[in-house]
Amino acid sequence: MSMQRITFADGAAYERNMGGWSRLAGGPFLDWLAPAQGLRWLDVGCGNGAFTELVCDRCAPVVVEGVDPSDGQLDFARTRLAGRPVRLQRGDAMALPFAGGSFDVAAMALVIFFVPDPAQAVAEMARVVRPGGTVAAYAWDFPAGGFPLEPIQAELRALGLDPPRPPHFAVARADALRALWAGAGLAGVETRAIVVRRSFAGLAEFWSHSLSGTAAAQMIEALEPAAAAALRARVEAWLDVAPDGRVTATARANMVRGLVPSPRSP
Ligand SMILES: C[S@@+](CC[C@H](N)C(=O)[O-])C[C@H]1O[C@@H](n2cnc3c(N)ncnc32)[C@H](O)[C@@H]1O
Repeated sequence: MSMQRITFADGAAYERNMGGWSRLAGGPFLDWLAPAQGLRWLDVGCGNGAFTELVCDRCAPVVVEGVDPSDGQLDFARTRLAGRPVRLQRGDAMALPFAGGSFDVAAMALVIFFVPDPAQAVAEMARVVRPGGTVAAYAWDFPAGGFPLEPIQAELRALGLDPPRPPHFAVARADALRALWAGAGLAGVETRAIVVRRSFAGLAEFWSHSLSGTAAAQMIEALEPAAAAALRARVEAWLDVAPDGRVTATARANMVRGLVPSPRSP
């Protein structure tokens, strides 16, 4: 395992690096959930509010409660979501600060693999959603190379370096997500894989966004200039570069959803 951890101290750096990617995956996720308008939403690990904003834009929620342990992310989210029907607080997915049955939908966008006990987090989402409500998530398919920054990470690994991955990245596999959701007693559990493409104005923008706030940036900076240039060239060979210079990078995520069952009558 990498000696470094992925951290979330800076919501603006996160926005350049991953916020755009999260929204691109969040669109097909919401298409798939097809929720009614006017629901009570919980966004677990809301981060800097990238997915929260999408819920506000698309789902006309009555309220979105956002919970995240990072003040740096929450500060950015507070600015971004000012005037929206959103309440944000510091908190942990494994001990959600809400009464049972408080929400119609609980969602986790790119979070499940960071939580120390993923099963406990899913159990908590199932607890705070009403019977018949939805518990859902999407996660980059790290085990299958679906992380958006996989080209950079793979080329660093080829040099013997070890860029950090989320501690529980293996739970992003579709079968692992299904097992977690079923293990929390959720009904009608389904998964679906999606491909996400992000377009950049050019290679300079690809690099500045992709390295923003990352351990990979420090690793590349520490290379000899010739080695760094060679690595950049190898990474760029993974990308789709159009004649006009626009760059498209591809990622893959797995989505999961399940319903909170009605309590059995005695
Ligand atoms: C990749 S970001 C996703 C943020 C946001 N959901 C999005 O889609 O852009 C992962 C987030 O999970 C949060 N996180 C890490 N551990 C957590 C935990 N135990 N409970 C809740 N959130 C956690 C981090 O602070 C970070 O904001």
